[in-house]
Amino acid sequence: MIRWIGLFLFFWYVHANASGSNTEEFTRDSVALGQSIFESGIGRDGRAIGATLHGLPLSGAAIACSGCHGQDARGGGEAFIVAPDIRWSRLNNPFPSRRAAGAGKSYDIFSFTKAIRSGYSADGRQLDPAMPRFDLADDEINSLIAYLSAIDQQTTSLEKRFNIISLLPISGHSKYADELSLKLNDCASLHVGVPIAAIDTLYFSTPEDALKQLENYIERSANPLVLLPFIMGWEDKYTEFIRSNNIPTALPFSFLDPPLLKDGVFEKQWHFYFPGLQSQLKALMRSIHREDYTHIRIIHNLADELSVRLNEIVLHEAERLNMAVLTHVQKNDQQDFKIAAIWLTPTAMNQSFERFELNPDIQMLVPVFFFTQDADPSFSWRVAYPYKPRDDDGQWLSPVDVWTSAACTFLVNLSSSDLAKNDGAPLYLEWGDGFKLNGRLDPESLSDTVFIHDYE
Ligand code: HEC
Repeated sequence: MIRWIGLFLFFWYVHANASGSNTEEFTRDSVALGQSIFESGIGRDGRAIGATLHGLPLSGAAIACSGCHGQDARGGGEAFIVAPDIRWSRLNNPFPSRRAAGAGKSYDIFSFTKAIRSGYSADGRQLDPAMPRFDLADDEINSLIAYLSAIDQQTTSLEKRFNIISLLPISGHSKYADELSLKLNDCASLHVGVPIAAIDTLYFSTPEDALKQLENYIERSANPLVLLPFIMGWEDKYTEFIRSNNIPTALPFSFLDPPLLKDGVFEKQWHFYFPGLQSQLKALMRSIHREDYTHIRIIHNLADELSVRLNEIVLHEAERLNMAVLTHVQKNDQQDFKIAAIWLTPTAMNQSFERFELNPDIQMLVPVFFFTQDADPSFSWRVAYPYKPRDDDGQWLSPVDVWTSAACTFLVNLSSSDLAKNDGAPLYLEWGDGFKLNGRLDPESLSDTVFIHDYE
């Protein structure tokens, strides 16, 4: 009996080993051939593969898949051609939302062959003529599939490593949040034909509820990344949570700079943030300092916590720039120095002028979030924006427009090569008409990214 078992084990061992190494070798060869076709357009036995593109016969490297679908098969492309992600996990995925728009059915070996040879997608759509029609043999096509499966496991992608969640208040809580939610859900329709990473949104009633839900979520899923959490007013509480749970956050919807970890260093878990009020104030102060203003009058509201906090920042910056702070400005005084006034309160602007004894030759400074429609037009207003406020057509953009375009770009980049190759530490996001956002900036350089606009 014992011998029997021994024999059986021996057999099983030999058998498993043999078939194991066999498949491995077969796969390795196959993957190598697939890679050669994919990267250089060289098929079996060193022949240059052929194809027709827009009716023209082409061969070899000119029609290598990587030229259009990207080195890592995640899609992309030069100029006008946008080639989809063709990693096998995508093509073969039964859930079409995870694939390029338009591809309703998942690919199998037969429909993949048809796409390559005759240019039809899995659901029978004729593919754009920018996708060449290839003369590939069955085994070459099999090896492409082997390679497109293997490449997926080789590249570490952010998308694979992260489960992306957004955190927004339930509807009706904030106008901003409702618009953010709508536009975020619309990302895919703004980026038709481009693979876009999936996102789960958690809707919360209170910050406590938000953290509770986030806690539940991270228990269930590995490697969460929070995109565009709505944390206005509870930044510190949120940051404490993600710091202790080690959760990266991108594009937080906050009007403040990231909290400081220590002097001169921002919280490490915040990525892709716009300059907050603190940086905007610094940028405003520096802009007038360059124009030889020597005095600054601060308009703040002692009853408002935020206003008091911002006041400290301006005082600190004034000291650094060697500017005098005025608590009081005489109306109609003849002054021989240049004065600016900085607005640090969300108070209704129209009623405040008398009270603050301002006269119109004072240069007014204000961060855009405090700048309202009723701002007195007889003053010259210098407004700080955390982003480029107009697109190339001169259209003014709202924070919601800008935050969501950045977030959608982030989701697109997650499934493209750019972010993946940077191993999760992308340097910046770029979109639309010259919009750009850095991945991580320190408190000093963040104020350099503020946009200043003068309203005369
Ligand atoms: C000259 C550029 C170019 C080259 C080279 C190219 N493709 Fe494409 N490919 C495209 C474009 C563009 C599309 C999108 C067509 C459409 O959606 O109508 C596409 C679509 C596809 C699709 C369909 C994907 C889907 O989601 O339905 C597959 C599969 C594919 N290509 C595989 C390959 C393979 C494999 C190679 C190399 C043997 C290759 N392509 C080479 C441009 C190219």
